[in-house]
Order: sequence, then C-alpha cells, then structure tokens
Amino acid sequence: MDVMPMNETGERVERRRTLVELIKETYPEKTGSLFFVSAFEQERHQFYQDSTFEYFFGLQESALLIYQEIDGKTVLFEPNYSVDRSVWLPVNFDESDLSELAIDAVEKLGQTIKGYSTGPFFTPEQLENFIKKIQDQLDAGHFIFTALTDIFPECAWVVNQLCVFIPGLKEQLIDIAPLIAELRRTKSQKELEYLYHASEITVMAQQAAAGIIRKDNLEADVQAAIEYVFTESGATRAFASVVGAGKNSTTLHYVDNKGPLPEKGLVVVDIGASFNHYCSDVTRTYPVSGIFSERQRKVYQDVLDTQEYIAGIAKPGMFMRNKNEPDKCLNTLSKKFLAQRGYNVEKEFPHGIGHYVGLDVHDVGSYETPIQAGDIITIEPGLYLKDEEIGIRIEDIYWVIKDGIVCLSEGVPKKPEEVQKYMKESRFEDESDSYRAGPNEH
Ligand code: GLY
Ligand code: MN
Repeated sequence: MDVMPMNETGERVERRRTLVELIKETYPEKTGSLFFVSAFEQERHQFYQDSTFEYFFGLQESALLIYQEIDGKTVLFEPNYSVDRSVWLPVNFDESDLSELAIDAVEKLGQTIKGYSTGPFFTPEQLENFIKKIQDQLDAGHFIFTALTDIFPECAWVVNQLCVFIPGLKEQLIDIAPLIAELRRTKSQKELEYLYHASEITVMAQQAAAGIIRKDNLEADVQAAIEYVFTESGATRAFASVVGAGKNSTTLHYVDNKGPLPEKGLVVVDIGASFNHYCSDVTRTYPVSGIFSERQRKVYQDVLDTQEYIAGIAKPGMFMRNKNEPDKCLNTLSKKFLAQRGYNVEKEFPHGIGHYVGLDVHDVGSYETPIQAGDIITIEPGLYLKDEEIGIRIEDIYWVIKDGIVCLSEGVPKKPEEVQKYMKESRFEDESDSYRAGPNEH
C-alpha cells in the first residue's frame, strides 16, 4: 500500500485529531468510535480512492474498513483474500508506513474472499471480525461516528449493509459528514499546491484543445488532445470531459464528444485534471473558425462581463448560493446582471454560478455559510441560446483569500480577441501534429 510522504502523512494524522476534537465538541455527551470505508475497484474504471478516505489516510487500496476508538487504538481491517493480491496488482503493504499514519494494528475483516478483488457485496461471514468489533461497542452503549453522506456510493452501500447485518447499529450511527465537510473545505498549503498544479495541467490541456479545434477535426480529437495532456502529466480527469460543438454547446454536460466541429459553430470545452486527487475545473468557449461572429462575440462578451463582475465582488462574507441573502449571493447577483442585459436567465442561464472544488470537483462544504479564506471556488457563468445553437460558458477556479480571490487558471486567455490569437498561436500543424497518429486519423 503506497502512503504519502511523511509531511502529508503527518497532515492526515492531524486531520483525524482535529476531527476527534470536533466530534467531542459537537457531541460532548456521546462516547464511541469512528469508522471509515475505502472505495472499491470497478472493472470499467481505474481505481480511484474515496475522497474522504483519501483525506484521512491516503492509502491507495480498495475494500478497507478502518475502526478508530475516539481516545484509543486505530485498526485497519482488510479483506481476507484467498490468493496473494500482490501477484495481480501493485499493492505494497508496509506496516511501518501504517504506524506513521497512526494505525496501530492490521486485521482481517472475516472469512476468506475468493480471488484477489472484491466489490462492496460482502457477506456477514466475510465481515465477521469487523462486525464483532462494532457489536462490542454497541453492547457497551457507545455510538459509531461515520460519514453517511458525501462518500462514494459503494462506501455508502457498505455502511447500509452493515446496518442490515448488525441489529441496533442504525440507531447508534451518527453522521459526521458535515464535520468532515467543514474540515475538507479549508485547504492547507499542501492541498493548495496540488490544486494549483491540477489547474496548470488543465491550462495546458486547454491550450491543446485551442490548437486542435478546426473544421475538419472532431469533438473526439479535441477530447483526445486534452486527455493526452492529462495522462502525460501524471493526472487523470476529474470528471468526464465536455467538448460540445455547434448545437451540442447548448447541452450543459454534453460528454458524448462524437460530433463534428461545424465551421460556423462554437465549442464549449469544460475540463479538469485531477492531480494527486485534487481537482481543477476550467471552461473556455472557442469559435471553430478561429474568429467569433459578431453575434457570438456579443453573447460571449456578456458572459465574460458577468464573470469579471462576480470575480470583482467575491470575497469572504459573500455567499455562493443563498437565496435568503440576495444582496450578498454571487449566484443571485450573476442572474440579475444577465437579466439586466435582456436575457431570460431561467431558461438561458440554467445553472449555478459556481461551486467548491477540492478532492471532488463539486466538493463538499456548506452553502449556508459565506465563503471564507481558504475556500476554493469556481465562477462559471454561461448562456445557452438553443435556437441560435450558441452555447457559451467561461469558468475559472479561484482561491479565496482575506480580501478577495486569486485566479488559479489565468493562463488561458478569455477576451475574444485574445482567444482568437491564442487559437492561432497554439495551432498544431498537420505535419507536426503529435496528437493525430493511428486511430484518430480520418
Ligand atoms: N465543470 C463541470 C461542472 O461544474 O458542472
Ligand atoms: Mn464547474
């Protein structure tokens, strides 16, 4: 099992300490233990750790359960595989790494699981040692603190399954997802470095997109160029890449990426790299011909003006989305701004102005409280005029500081004339076009 370098390991241990303090403050009358669930392998996807498990442990391993007494020991439970898992997968289980993570012991979950991999569908027998541990806690009148929400679906499945297997557990479970969300929301220096690096990679991928958009290419060529940059940079995609051209630009999360690039159309490129699990999210809209038409340019400028207006007023104390505070709510203010320019915002700007970003692209964090220093947010106004096949979104990622925000993705130009110049300067010429070998040739 790979663990992070020492300084990050220390940061993870510290996070768990802070979480325990928060639990004690929030539930002073309640004693008990915590448990954490790691993600599972899925045949169609590369393994990707659950974000909360990643935050507290950083172990790149599936199907683990961790049991932590509030003021006592932490035990890692692993499936009892019938074969040596390391024959199949690059797992490297080193117990000395685990002690640095303040994990005191390793035990098997229960009876043998056939093979080297597992889904979340354990039987009570395969979990029997873990079940016994929890049962003992319940018998002693203790509570179990765990994240019931804001975890990957398969982790939630395991929690629900445990409730079926252990009578009385459901009544004694306390959801600490809101406490974890508050911790995850404020980013440390190290997290900020990863977020910035994910944004740098995303900026490079936008440049690759800008350089390959032209009428004889396909949306798929653009996606391939983007994801080549992600892969080559040691990143993965934080979400399915959106490359929507022509009428597809008006579908907010168009991810088919199978269409042509119509000469007179626009292309919405909404992409984000995930580097070391930290995500980015940057959208640009390009004219296929390299030049915006007069009408496209007018709508584009309205979207850009909205983004600049919101970025200019975003600071601690303002809310991302809180209808009860309309004068301080960036979402409400952005809608008002575009309504004043004559748009039917309900229909033509049907999404929010932004969201938190972190270990998940739509990260955890309450929208009831105002933004605060240490938050990472996006600002992403858009206009979608279906009848005209004009879809435009401009999105950047920002770090909230004490008196404003700092853009982490400013490397991609966004003024219309700068976008046009950028496309020209970034253009891949066919003879040196490294992205168009093999199956992409058409
Ligand atoms: N970039 C995708 C989204 O924010 O929904
Ligand atoms: Mn976004």
